[in-house]
Amino acid sequence: MRFHVLTLFPEMIEQGCRTSILGRAADAGLITVSATNIRDFSENKHGHVDDYPYGGGAGMVMQPGPIDRAYQSIKQNIPGKARVIYVTPQGTVFHQRMAEELAKEEDLIFLCGHYEGVDERILEKLVTDYVSIGDYVLTGGELPAMVMIDAIARLVPGVLSNQVSAEFESFHDNLLEYPQYTRPEEYEGRRVPEVLLSGHHANIEQWRREQSLTRTLHWRPDLLEKAELTKKDREYLAKQTDRK
Ligand code: ADE
Repeated sequence: MRFHVLTLFPEMIEQGCRTSILGRAADAGLITVSATNIRDFSENKHGHVDDYPYGGGAGMVMQPGPIDRAYQSIKQNIPGKARVIYVTPQGTVFHQRMAEELAKEEDLIFLCGHYEGVDERILEKLVTDYVSIGDYVLTGGELPAMVMIDAIARLVPGVLSNQVSAEFESFHDNLLEYPQYTRPEEYEGRRVPEVLLSGHHANIEQWRREQSLTRTLHWRPDLLEKAELTKKDREYLAKQTDRK
């Protein structure tokens, strides 16, 4: 899968995506992350890519021309159509299902804005998806683009060494993940739950399911409405709520 990022800070994207699992995935040829500097497509002798807003107001607005030319330069190497994601606090809030859907694409283009915004006409011309990573405002689109790239890339087959872990973890079925433990068996007086040492797989499975349900009930009760629950799950949850 190929990620293309239009940005004023390509080094941020390149360095951020070169480390850890994304870096390994790129080395293995499973993904590519390329950052294109919008400033390289300025036609202004000072390399400016922004100007004052028509109608007045604070801040500067990114001009359409440099973004358009940067886009055309990458588009010519992409066969067929590619979705263009503008990361903006005004967009639809990103979530796991969106990551799963986007992971099916061959190419994804991210447009990172800065300053007070981007000229609306270039958004109308190029953008297919407006996506936010949450209800807070960041200084630019690079971190949101990296958050999305990380969430999408890890779903590409082969990127995680253990593919099962992508399927079973938090949010896959709208339940939070159960707690995990490793050695030592006792740490500063806190013991690993006995059931995990028992070797009894059915009991371990049941304990983990109950932990997931309890956590979701306490921390993200909103998720429970969307989770697929068995009769046994519901009975367990009812008992938990009675106890509250
Ligand atoms: N740009 C600035 N803030 C953002 C956010 N919360 N999500 C996506 N893009 C942004």
